[in-house]
Amino acid sequence: EENVNEKINQQFEELITTLPSDKGLIVPTLINYKGFWYPPISIFKGVLLMQDQFKARSTDIFLCSAPKTGTTWLKALTFATMNRSKFEFATHPLLTTVPHNCMPYLDAYITDHDVEALPSPRLLSSHSAYSLLPKSTRESPDCKIVYICRNPKDVFVSDYLFSMKLRAPMFPPISMEEAFDLFCKGVCLYGPYFEHVLGYWKARLESPEKILFLKYEEMRRDPVKHVKHLAEFLGKPFSAEEEKAGVIEEILKLCSFDKLTSLEVSKTGKVAFVPEIAIGNETFYRKGKVGDSKNHLTPEMIERLDKITEEKLKGTGFAF
Ligand code: A3P
Repeated sequence: EENVNEKINQQFEELITTLPSDKGLIVPTLINYKGFWYPPISIFKGVLLMQDQFKARSTDIFLCSAPKTGTTWLKALTFATMNRSKFEFATHPLLTTVPHNCMPYLDAYITDHDVEALPSPRLLSSHSAYSLLPKSTRESPDCKIVYICRNPKDVFVSDYLFSMKLRAPMFPPISMEEAFDLFCKGVCLYGPYFEHVLGYWKARLESPEKILFLKYEEMRRDPVKHVKHLAEFLGKPFSAEEEKAGVIEEILKLCSFDKLTSLEVSKTGKVAFVPEIAIGNETFYRKGKVGDSKNHLTPEMIERLDKITEEKLKGTGFAF
């Protein structure tokens, strides 16, 4: 283990000084590793370690997403669905634990060595691009990946406002215009965003039985349908009795934006994926609405991002 850590430390020090870099929102610099943007802090060490050390099990479930696409909601829904026979709704762990702390975050593998000790089936999460997931995750025919995406305008606005809450005051401020330019040229945490989405989209076309592809907007429109589908995909379909007893509705209520934001844990707790940054739990919840970006972006910005979206998606068969 000592040797592994030393090797990764060396690799980390070398890469953060040699990789291409650009501006970041939460931390002032991002580095480009194999096409995707990471912060040069220990989370990147976690990614290197995860790629080197992590071994997928055939029963693993990976919840993958680019930041601000609905990760928190997906984690809550999946945790509640998978563990529905284990917990009562009145005393459910999600009432006292923020969804991020209900499962390991693989990109922070550096602080999550207990991943190996978890019983199967493991519920794991990652913001990394498909091509940067551990080889065993991509190659294991049986483990499952659930991916969520969201329209890029709402992702950008959600990400900008979230990041400004976390950016340390010692760094010079970044305007929304500047952040927007960065996003449009693909520079954003774990991005470029379109390449992130299309990487999972392509993988899902090749292995539809392995990857479930969800859209935030569609889930907001018809959450019952999508939670049912999620349960089927994960091999835990709801029985007729469960449906009649309203279990799906109970799960949706428990994981709803209003319920989660009303909890004491969402107002006071913090999540520290890595030692450098602690994220106040309240920061994960803002509005939870579809289309709020129109209240923040100018018509010119909307036109520009719509045009980029059209170009990026041309010929892919995918649409937001
Ligand atoms: P907004 O900033 O548009 O409100 P992530 O969890 O990937 O960081 O995404 C955060 C976005 O999901 C935020 O969007 C947040 O408000 C929204 N969100 C968080 N919890 C939610 C829930 N339970 N239901 C619906 N949306 C939720």
